Amino acid sequence: MDQTINRGLDGVYIDTSAISFIDGGKGQLVYRGYDITELADKASYEEVVYLLWNGHLPNAEQLAEFRAEIAPHYAVPGAVYDLYRNLPHGHSPMHAIRTAASMLGAYDDDPDGVDLPNVRRIGLKLLAEFQTITAAYERIRRGLQPVAPRPDLSLAGNFLYTLTGEVPSEAATRVMDVALVLHAEHGSNASTFVARATASTLTDVYSAITAAIGALKGPLHGGANTAVMQALEEIGDVAGVEPYVLGVLAKPGGRVMGFGHRVYKVLDPRAQVLKEVSRKLALESGDSKWFDMSLEMERVMDREMAKKGKEVKPNVDFFSASVYRMLGFPSDMYTPIFAVARISGWMAHLFEQYADNRLMRPRLAYSGTMGLEFVPVERR
Ligand code: COA
Repeated sequence: MDQTINRGLDGVYIDTSAISFIDGGKGQLVYRGYDITELADKASYEEVVYLLWNGHLPNAEQLAEFRAEIAPHYAVPGAVYDLYRNLPHGHSPMHAIRTAASMLGAYDDDPDGVDLPNVRRIGLKLLAEFQTITAAYERIRRGLQPVAPRPDLSLAGNFLYTLTGEVPSEAATRVMDVALVLHAEHGSNASTFVARATASTLTDVYSAITAAIGALKGPLHGGANTAVMQALEEIGDVAGVEPYVLGVLAKPGGRVMGFGHRVYKVLDPRAQVLKEVSRKLALESGDSKWFDMSLEMERVMDREMAKKGKEVKPNVDFFSASVYRMLGFPSDMYTPIFAVARISGWMAHLFEQYADNRLMRPRLAYSGTMGLEFVPVERR
């Protein structure tokens, strides 16, 4: 039997998918045929979610209907707020968000049905509820009351509103919209793969999404944006960047967070868009510290990687860190905010997986011993 091993499933195709396409050599990401750079420039997050879920962009009427379908779903059971009030708050907020997402299933009237209308109903619900559970956690841990949602605002606007309690400026809403669009979908990344693998047992959406949140949390995946900001905070200023990077690279297996990607061998197109957003925010605010430090880190990494003959470029998490900082988010909320965006991509993949399922059950090549004789416990 063929036992070709692709560690980390590197280069392995598990199925076909019509949702997104990545050309890692060109640095291109396409959602349903549309280049991400154009979508980030011209489309709202709602249009992009509709596109990911339906395969085409909505016309004005379809978009209005879609917004109206989302609106009733922002409210979450009060038990989620009770949970948050009782949780210890010293750990990553991802523990709270993951637990809340799992709880939402227990309060659903039909959590287990995996027929497409039910999965779609749950998708709409989770799209709105993820905003509420994320914003509410941030407020409750600071001793504040959750803010009632404003379904008349866009998804980006409502998220900022429920987080801060203030109607956001148009400029801030647009930046949030761009961030949500860029983080919505990315093929068979670790969390989406986990969501699809979990759903392939025909378990429920909530279990698949809870598993995906757990995968997203890791520093090699969505957790990297928080790690980037924590590194920038620890470094403190531009002069500290070079010694920091050299120190990390000098350690065996040292990784500078926010750099490198399994698929992109050139600059991640999402990082390019976020770099320009970060530059603009820095100019407008008159405080360019975080952007300047990020540029310096990119410069030092380029130089050091070139010495090793490697192309290790910034990924989506790198410039999202300074962007989120300038929007005023606490660094440990960056990964939950990634989940607020990625719920749309996870759901698009669950629609595909449930529609044409085959159980995922890969193999491991056994590397242990054989033929041992059992010795009873008293003689061992
Ligand atoms: N810092 C320093 N070197 C890095 C690096 C980083 N962030 N990312 C990759 N490299 C180097 C490795 O040293 C490795 O060199 P080697 O072959 O001599 O060991 C080479 O590039 C390939 O890296 P590898 O870890 O094998 O690639 P991968 O496809 O398994 O890993 C990541 C991809 C994303 C896990 C990896 O780039 C990483 O750990 N990045 C930091 C975490 C991060 O930003 N994650 C968010 C991803 S969107």
